[in-house]
Amino acid sequence: MPSTFPAMRSPGSLAPSRTLAPELLRLARERQAAGQLVEAADGYAATATAAEREGDGSTLAQALRLQAAVVHIRGDSSRARALCARSSAVARGLGDSRLVAEALNTMGGLELETGAPAAAAESFRLALGFAGEEWDLWGRIEQNLGTVATVQGDGAMARWHYARSLRAYRRGGDRRGCAMVLHNLGMLSADHRRWAESQRYFLKARRLARAVQDYHLQALCHLNSAEVELALGRPEAAEQSAEAARHLFEELGTKPDLAAVWKILGMASREAGRLNLADARLRTAIELASSTGNALTRAESLLELARTHQAFGHPAEVLATLGEAYPLFLSLGARAEMSEIAGWLDQLEARYLSSIGTCPSEMVIGRKGHGIRVAACAARIAQTVGLDPLQVSAIRVGSQVHDRGMARLPRGLLEKTSALSPQERELVRRHPHWGLEGLPALGCPWDVASIVRSHHERYDGSGYPDGLAGEAIPLAAQIVGIADVYDGLTSDRSYRRAFTPAEAVACIANQRHLWHPAVLDAFLRETGLSIPRDVAVA
Ligand SMILES: [Fe+2]
Ligand SMILES: [Fe+2]
Repeated sequence: MPSTFPAMRSPGSLAPSRTLAPELLRLARERQAAGQLVEAADGYAATATAAEREGDGSTLAQALRLQAAVVHIRGDSSRARALCARSSAVARGLGDSRLVAEALNTMGGLELETGAPAAAAESFRLALGFAGEEWDLWGRIEQNLGTVATVQGDGAMARWHYARSLRAYRRGGDRRGCAMVLHNLGMLSADHRRWAESQRYFLKARRLARAVQDYHLQALCHLNSAEVELALGRPEAAEQSAEAARHLFEELGTKPDLAAVWKILGMASREAGRLNLADARLRTAIELASSTGNALTRAESLLELARTHQAFGHPAEVLATLGEAYPLFLSLGARAEMSEIAGWLDQLEARYLSSIGTCPSEMVIGRKGHGIRVAACAARIAQTVGLDPLQVSAIRVGSQVHDRGMARLPRGLLEKTSALSPQERELVRRHPHWGLEGLPALGCPWDVASIVRSHHERYDGSGYPDGLAGEAIPLAAQIVGIADVYDGLTSDRSYRRAFTPAEAVACIANQRHLWHPAVLDAFLRETGLSIPRDVAVA
């Protein structure tokens, strides 16, 4: 990037009568410290303008770097990177190694936070080349390289950088820096389940943090130590550590940290068997995390609340809570938690379905396994349509119970080989309503009523029992409906042989007016057959 920085004044040139830039920089820093980010960003921009006018390269480089950090926090990362690059160029022009290193270190931080750890590592390594014997700067850069290695899953490399960072901070006499690195080492050990080692680091970090009066770091050490106690199955010790953290965070008034504390307190109560207390504490965590916009702590607290509902034996609440947590994890790209939720749903479904037994309508010859096959087909369609795992789960369960109402039909009606009389057809058309009446007895925690009621509704309004049309038909019911028809066509009946899959797909495709276009499209893609619009089945 070309530097627009003017040539430096020669020592003999006339000095400006008054220099504003350093004072503006001080004021902008104060605004940032007070959390006034908009004012701070404006202040740094004004500082840069004044510094350029006054030929104060050092203040210009600092203002640009600090503005970059604030602009990044406010969401404009590409502008932040441009500001950082300019800060680095100005510092190089001045021949000020420390300022070059600071600019590159900030650049690395921006890259790390925007998901580019390899680029971040490169910036941090470049920064080290300019850090000279500035031990505080060495300490910070090595600490950042340790964080990059942690993000990249290289624990040994992270440990190596943290050790170098610790040595640099010690050489510079920076006890606060030492405390931060020891805390990071504690986190790293905990990530690798080296519990005793992590507790030793947290203890050392906490003592140093207290000595330098860094109460926030002290509280973080208590909090992370509480997590380790929980992992070790010691809820009482976890509670004590979390309470110590809570007192400190309350004095500091840091709400996002308090949300994390209440989450740990809730988990500790649950592990100690105090479920009502766990429920209340986790709800406090969720509320605090929501009010501070902390999506990760909110999602994690919801997951813990779901576990608490599970311990209570309340599956409907488990599902509702997972339904709240899932989109948060999705937006955070938290794959591990998303697959944990999907696995959890599988278990809940299996337990529930085995508890209610086989659908009575499947006792009839030719209908055995109908629910399982409809569930498998409908779930694939639902996933292709883009429904989330909670909705897919409800569709799977709904598929298995959709015909429960048929249990009330007179024996032999479903096996009849001749055509049904109008009265018999009328009886069959009642099974969605009868299924609804039977639902409470099944104690189903999923919301499957719309599937049971509307799986015979058709997009053009020709279905039953309510004659719904178009978007008025619940999407889940359309999905189960098309899978139901496909399974019916591909199964032997007492009055006809089974269609081949290709014949069944063609038959469905030829009646596209019966189906939601997205559902039909997903069905055709899932069956793996491309059926032209005008295919006819003989
Ligand atoms: Fe049915
Ligand atoms: Fe069916």
